[in-house]
Amino acid sequence: MADVVIQATNLSKELTSSLLRRKVRILSGLNLKVVQGETFGLIGPNGAGKTTSIKLMLGLMRPSEGTAEILGMPAGDKRALAQLGYLPENPYFYSHLTGAEFLDFAGQLFGIEKKERSERARELTELVGLAEAADTQMRKYSKGMLQRLGIAQSLINRPQLIFWDEPMSGLDPIGRKDVRRILFHLKENGTTIFFNSHLLPDVNEVCDRVGVMNKGQLIVQEEVKNISQGGSYKDLEDFFLEVIAGQGAR
Ligand SMILES: Nc1ncnc2c1ncn2[C@@H]1O[C@H](COP(=O)(O)OP(=O)(O)OP(=O)(O)O)[C@@H](O)[C@H]1O
Ligand SMILES: [Mg+2]
Repeated sequence: MADVVIQATNLSKELTSSLLRRKVRILSGLNLKVVQGETFGLIGPNGAGKTTSIKLMLGLMRPSEGTAEILGMPAGDKRALAQLGYLPENPYFYSHLTGAEFLDFAGQLFGIEKKERSERARELTELVGLAEAADTQMRKYSKGMLQRLGIAQSLINRPQLIFWDEPMSGLDPIGRKDVRRILFHLKENGTTIFFNSHLLPDVNEVCDRVGVMNKGQLIVQEEVKNISQGGSYKDLEDFFLEVIAGQGAR
């Protein structure tokens, strides 16, 4: 059995809603294990709790109950953070920097030596199709170019585990294909991948396993091959819609 690299146990989050003046539960009892080398896709309607789950697993948010362990360490442990890559849902960029400067900055945060940083920045801008724009200021980047740069920065430290929150968001069909190619390349190298996406054909193509989240609960986990080859569902979208319909209208 491969090593468990992500483990959430009864992970839950409550927030106080100023509008409703009461506590609202945005994540309820998430139990999940992802093993080394696995590609796991978390899907679910808007507001289901996908981003919240990632933030709790990374230690960017504190759980109200439960625990998360990443690479055998508690969520937020610096030793674990040093070995993972994160693409946030809404990355913040320093717009006056060029793409290459931003990657250099990201590399400095991981304590990477200057020579390796510049080699890595060159490799990564190439990988994400930004080589020609590497010396352009980010304020001149389009949405999709920023997304590509976000993907590049998440790989600067050669992570063994990545958390990507909607990596295909804002990308054109060529960009989506590029992301799938990068994902396959990472998979081949044994990287463990956890990502959220609404693009079900892409999830279907690259993931080993999917989880469906709705209203703060992980309601199903299933191997993709069982969905596509099981005969009960036309495709992942069909499976997703059936599962959500079974939960009642939102
Ligand atoms: N800081 C916050 N304050 C108040 N409510 C929040 C906060 N963060 C998240 N929520 C609420 O928690 C729920 C889950 O949000 P989350 O961002 O995790 O959803 P999501 O599944 O990632 O959705 P999407 O597909 O739209 O990105 C939503 O109802 C959202 O409004
Ligand atoms: Mg989200």
